[in-house]
This record gives sequence, C-alpha cells and structure tokens, in this order.
Amino acid sequence: MKKKPRLAILTGGGDCPGINAVIRAVTKKAILDQGMEVIGIADGYHGLVKNRYRKLRYNDVSGILTLGGTILGTSKVANPYRYPVGQGKNLRFSDLSRRVINNLRRLKVDCMVCIGGDGTLGIAYQLFKDGVAIVGVPKTIDNDIRGTDVTFGFNSAVTIATEGIDRVHTTAQSHHRIMIVEVMGHQAGWVALHSGVAGGGDIILIPEIPYDVEVIAQRVKERNRKGKRFSIVVIAEGARPQGGNVAIQRIVQESADAVRLGGIGFILGEQLERITGLQTRTVVMGHLQRGGSPTAFDRVLATELGTTAMELVEKRKFGQMVGLSGARLVNVPLKIVAQGPRLVPLNHRLISSARSVGTCFGA
Ligand code: F6P
Repeated sequence: MKKKPRLAILTGGGDCPGINAVIRAVTKKAILDQGMEVIGIADGYHGLVKNRYRKLRYNDVSGILTLGGTILGTSKVANPYRYPVGQGKNLRFSDLSRRVINNLRRLKVDCMVCIGGDGTLGIAYQLFKDGVAIVGVPKTIDNDIRGTDVTFGFNSAVTIATEGIDRVHTTAQSHHRIMIVEVMGHQAGWVALHSGVAGGGDIILIPEIPYDVEVIAQRVKERNRKGKRFSIVVIAEGARPQGGNVAIQRIVQESADAVRLGGIGFILGEQLERITGLQTRTVVMGHLQRGGSPTAFDRVLATELGTTAMELVEKRKFGQMVGLSGARLVNVPLKIVAQGPRLVPLNHRLISSARSVGTCFGA
C-alpha cells in the first residue's frame, strides 16, 4: 500500500485564541481532502529538537474549535538556530538546526504548517531555506505580522480589552478619577488603537506616537473644566514618552526576543496624579487578553487561514504564509514576513477617525 504523505503541525510563540481552530481546520482538510497523515509537534520548536510529537487523528481535533490556547503546547524560547542550553550563568546557545532537520527526515515528514508570530515564522523561513517544505499561518494578538492586514487572535484580544475599558469607565465616573488601562501589543499599537477606539478612550497612547505627559495632563484638565470629571487613558505596553524609554517588566535571557514589556501605565499614572491632582488608578489587562475562547470573527478567520494553508500544501507552494488583504485570502513569501514587525502607520485611517472624534494621542 502506498504510504500516505505526512504533515506536521507546529505552534510557536505566545498563545492566543484561535490556534486550535487552525489546528482543527488544517488537520481535517489534510485527512478528509488530501488523504494525509498528520502529526502535532509538542511545545513549538522544543518538540522538533527533542523529537516530541503525537499523531493527530480526526477525533483528536474534533470539538476544539472554541477552545483557547493550543492543544499542542508552545514555546517562546525554543529556536533551533539559537537553542538555549543550561541556565543562569551557564546559559549558552547552540545551533541545533541540523538535528531538527534530521528528526523531521526520520519522522518521514513531507511538509509542515507552522502557526506563529513573526519570531516563529522567521525561524520557519530559515528552515525553509535549509530545505524544509513549510507553509506559515499568522498568529498573534499583536496584529503585527507583515503580509496580512489581520492575524487571528487580534479580534479576541481587542474584544477582551474593550470589555476591560468599558468596566473601568463606570468606576472612573463614580470616583471622578483618571483610569489607565494598559494593554498588550509588544512594539505595536494595534491592540491599544482598536480597543481604545472601541472603548471610547479619551486618550490613546501607542508606541508609534511617543507622548508628552503635559499634553495628556492638559487634556484631562480641559475635560474636567467641561464637566467631564473623569478620563480614560488606554496605553500600549510598548508606549514611551518623547525622548524617553519603554518600561521593561522582565528580561527572559533564554528568549531570542528577551525583553518583556510592561508597567508604563503605572509610571504614567504617578506622573498624571502629581500634575493634575486627580486620583489615578492603573489596570493592566495582561494575559487575560490571550486566554479563553476565540470570538466568532477569529474562529472564521482561523478556519479560512487553516484551509487556505492546506491549499498551498496541495499546490506545493512552500515558503509562503497565508494572510488576509482586504477581504481576500492571499499568500506572501515568508521572506517578507521575516523582515520584522508591522507597526501602525502614522497615516492610518483609524488614527484620523479617532482624532476627528476628539481622541488625544498624547502629542
Ligand atoms: O506577542 C504576544 C504577547 O502577548 C505580547 O503582546 C507581549 O508583549 C508578550 O507576548 C508577553 O510575553 P509573555 O507571554 O512571555 O509574558
């Protein structure tokens, strides 16, 4: 009997709602339409280094559409080209890419679908150049991947952040306070911009527009003079003052992208309280934005991206990532994706819409 072609699925980087929906779509289409055998690699690129995987049958992916996280596990530190070995002072990095490629050969993997952000897909591009047949699927709450207008996970994160903003609104009003909501997004302001507009933030601060604290304080005072005795500030974790630095929460030495951002909302809160004399509280949305069930939008997008990835596999169009351009599903070379994050352009339509309804961007 002819051996079935074998597909491996890997999920890498930070998790987000919708990954399981992609795993389901890829696996079902591979089994039903393409007569393939599917294996799931455990814990991102760790699994490829350590040879940890499991077979994915139809029933293994049935019932996971609505489930948050990833059933395969993930890792933000495992990079086969710079694999962390040892800990603390003994930490060093080894290039284990040959081992990974040999493991894939031994597993008789014909091709791979990598679901990840720019880091994971950058590594996928390196593996592709080293001869591995790969298709990428863009995943992140940050929405910062080149080659696609939207990533799955973003809509869910924005929905959760917006609910947070809605909830602080009422308490801000009751106490006549400034409430600051810090949201994720890494170096990009997409989550802050969208949740800020959706939640009616009075001031939205994004990394792409460094802020002046005096401008923010003036806006808060002006609102007070007009009888609006509270203000809502939505700040991206990667935002920074003009001429100043980002707030670093921790350094993860083993990670290729070692800096974890966080805490800028508290710094701004202290400054605003001092300048305006108004009570100020800061809320950090944090990993709440990455957990739980995907929104309907993300379930649909994840399903479409997953099945489109399998169309590329069928056509043997490797070294590509699937994406969304306007309303169209497209494919873009991983080479472009590997060029780094996609930031909010300063002429973005949503920035001007927000300015038109009186939103302040702190500059
Ligand atoms: O990339 C997703 C993301 O949640 C970013 O928004 C955030 O900066 C980072 O990951 C947090 O990383 P960790 O899960 O290591 O705390």
